[in-house]
Amino acid sequence: MVLSQSLLAPMGCSPAIWRGISAYVLKSRGRMQKAFDIGLDSLFAHKDAATPESCFIADAPQRGTFYLETFGCQMNEHDSEKVAGVLLSRGYRQVDSVEAASFILYNTCSIREKAAQKVFSRLGELRETSSEPKKIGVLGCVAQQEGEKIFHRSPWVNLVCGSASYSKLPELLEQLEAGEKRVTGLDTDTDETFETELTRRDNPWRAYLTIIEGCDKACSYCVVPFTRGPERSRSSDSILRELRQLADLGYTEVQFLGQTVNSYADPSSRKMKFSELLRAAAEMPGMRRVRFTTSHPRDFGRDIVEAIESNDRICNHVHLPVQSGSTRVLRTMQRTYSRDEYLEKIAMIHESKKHIAITSDIIVGFPGETEREFDETLGLMEAVKYEGIFAFKYSPRPNTPAQSMADAIPEEEKSRRLAILLELQRKIQTEANEKLVGDFFEVHVEGKSRRENQWSGHTSCYRVVNFSSPQSDLLGSYVPVKVNSATPNCLIGEHAP
Ligand code: 5AD
Ligand code: SF4
Repeated sequence: MVLSQSLLAPMGCSPAIWRGISAYVLKSRGRMQKAFDIGLDSLFAHKDAATPESCFIADAPQRGTFYLETFGCQMNEHDSEKVAGVLLSRGYRQVDSVEAASFILYNTCSIREKAAQKVFSRLGELRETSSEPKKIGVLGCVAQQEGEKIFHRSPWVNLVCGSASYSKLPELLEQLEAGEKRVTGLDTDTDETFETELTRRDNPWRAYLTIIEGCDKACSYCVVPFTRGPERSRSSDSILRELRQLADLGYTEVQFLGQTVNSYADPSSRKMKFSELLRAAAEMPGMRRVRFTTSHPRDFGRDIVEAIESNDRICNHVHLPVQSGSTRVLRTMQRTYSRDEYLEKIAMIHESKKHIAITSDIIVGFPGETEREFDETLGLMEAVKYEGIFAFKYSPRPNTPAQSMADAIPEEEKSRRLAILLELQRKIQTEANEKLVGDFFEVHVEGKSRRENQWSGHTSCYRVVNFSSPQSDLLGSYVPVKVNSATPNCLIGEHAP
């Protein structure tokens, strides 16, 4: 078994879900290279994607070039797409290297310590390499967490802005353009969501769409409630309007995003439930697949399962993080459910008329986690048979209640538990995938291998499928694939007639 500390996705060989952060997965053997270059896609140039070098809005004033690097989760990736839209609409041009940029921005993640450290090492590199004056911005969770301290640690930084203040970005940029040296956006006390006219989306077929920002759940280990502020949902009208625009632009798949996506609470008088929003999205002409992540077990109800059953366009995949299989640990994590309550939700999903894939997040080595409690997590994994997991060693975070909890687990012990857990998951995935040999799946083709006639894509349940097809121009299409063999991380097949 190989432990990977780079990209992580439930099935191991899917495109990047997490960027530049420390997470552990089963590293796939024979991983298909993502050989196609999505390049730059935009609301105004769909599919005729321009390259980053050439992307700007012609009639905006020309203000210089920006380089934007993203760390962390899909929410951050999508925030970056919107931030890029704001910059492009002000006349900045996007480039793909620090050297070519006059404005360098890092959209940061602080969910685990290593992710946060990475940003400071990037900032250090900037001081060493930069000969000419450049503007530097720190966005996202590290910005929110460290605030003005970033200016003391890295005095060459000019902008520090947390995600809850992105709606103020145009004003903050104006201050920078007017010559101010240090500008901040650090309020989290807001009921605003970040909506922009322009979003520079990275993927030409699957669009992210944030429906709820922030988190009210207060898990004792997690910085998100501090760094992203309280839960704020977007109105269903505005979500469905953007979805229609996306369909008109040729997107066929949407992924609704939220730290707790199923806690969605429509602020408009329509008061659409999350499951109703899924159903409405699936009815949008042109949309072939509707995904959503991440679901919180507490708010996961039968109505979501029924929505998935009602329409094949709602993907049969639920990401339902358990974090631990021990009720005592869950209680100290403040997860608001017990092991049995979680397993009841799983039973509800397993009993569905449709096969619904379940993936999860698991933390090992939470303070005080005994060997026996860790075994309970392994037992739960055996019972649920997750189709993919993200597994993490507990990392103490500032401002969180867990930071000061007694009985920290030594680093080597966390690593040992993580290795055992990943080995078990490899066994579970191998068995599950081997059972699928001979089956047919509809695959959304998202990648082309450098090897001739080799393609890759995802099933509705988010399994990665690598397959052969003599046809050309398959990117973006949906094709039937027969599975001929399987690895723990992906299915291998051929284009079926
Ligand atoms: N240490 C380790 N993992 C964490 N996560 C969140 N906070 C921490 C932490 N302090 C994990 C949880 C969450 C995922 C996004 O990151 O599993 O679901
Ligand atoms: Fe963090 Fe818990 Fe909120 Fe998820 S639900 S973002 S783990 S506080």
